Amino acid sequence: MPPGTHEGVGLDDWAHFGRVDKSDLLGRVEAFAQDLAAGWNAARKAAPSFRKGGRFVSSVIVAGMGGSAISGEIVADAFRGHLPVPMAVVQDYGLPAFARRETLVIVSSYSGGTEETLSMFEDALRRGCRIVGITSGGELKRRLKEEGLPCFALPGGVQPRAALPFLLPPVVESLARAELITPKEAMEESIAVAGKIAGACARARPLRSNKAKRVADALAGGTPVVFGEGVLRAAALRWRTQFNENPKVIARDDMFPASNHNDINAWGLDGRAGEFRVVLLRDPKGHPRTARRTELTKKLALRGNAGGIIEVEATGETALARCISAVVLGDLASVYLAIKLGVDPTPVEVISRLKAELAKS
Ligand code: F6R
Repeated sequence: MPPGTHEGVGLDDWAHFGRVDKSDLLGRVEAFAQDLAAGWNAARKAAPSFRKGGRFVSSVIVAGMGGSAISGEIVADAFRGHLPVPMAVVQDYGLPAFARRETLVIVSSYSGGTEETLSMFEDALRRGCRIVGITSGGELKRRLKEEGLPCFALPGGVQPRAALPFLLPPVVESLARAELITPKEAMEESIAVAGKIAGACARARPLRSNKAKRVADALAGGTPVVFGEGVLRAAALRWRTQFNENPKVIARDDMFPASNHNDINAWGLDGRAGEFRVVLLRDPKGHPRTARRTELTKKLALRGNAGGIIEVEATGETALARCISAVVLGDLASVYLAIKLGVDPTPVEVISRLKAELAKS
């Protein structure tokens, strides 16, 4: 058996999940709503030096990598119908040319030690951008302090990707303090929706009535391809990355309606289509033409070609709540798949090894 893998555990044998999920990552996801509420409370009290209003903001950049960037992707999607200025998420060593004095740069690194993020922080400093940091420690915390810049300090001790409920509220609060959004209703609804999904899909709920377990069961043995429509684009990206890091499977993400202009063309002609299990993240409040496109895509491309089609309907009035509902279900499904496959979901040994090698030179 490869290192980090164990005998898989049946999804209704929850008393034995600990044999695989050694650090109880499932418990973290089950507590998503409580963590999001705690994170939101903390964010509203934090970084008092970063007050409401202040300098005019003409654009927003979230500078971060992987699990520390997804919060920016979700917020950018969820508030795109409200944000009066452009918002971009940058995962690289430097910022785009439009980053200048009036740009709010939210530098997000859970560990505070990610080299690309630290490099973007220095770039933002050079360009005189308005900077706020989000971190639990490390070099980023030290540099923010040294430069006298505001910092949302997060609790340490979890994997960055599992810290999403703590990483997301400071992004939202930063936009609120720049007077770009009024997020109270969306945050409160997101906390409520996350609690409902986590409750309905908790470990003790049997497979037959547990959507997250059913999704995991349907995905085992295939390659997940997750489509997010409209504002659920970032949720699909989160599903893909959680499937990469928790059960450690190769996965893809795509989006509607864009996939209608390229991806749709391949399903009937590529002989490998049957290896892929399609997940459609549906937004009941999405554009009606996108809903029609999804139905036609199933008929013309997916049915009879893909190895399976699973549909997940987002819930909530606000776009943020609908994104969070899809994210929580995907997070749970990814951990259930890890347990079923016998892969400890917490360690990300290759990512850690790469960072260690890079640190040597
Ligand atoms: C690990 C994870 C990674 C990290 C990324 C950046 O759980 O999700 O994608 O988030 O390597 O590290 P941080 O978040 O510490 O800046």
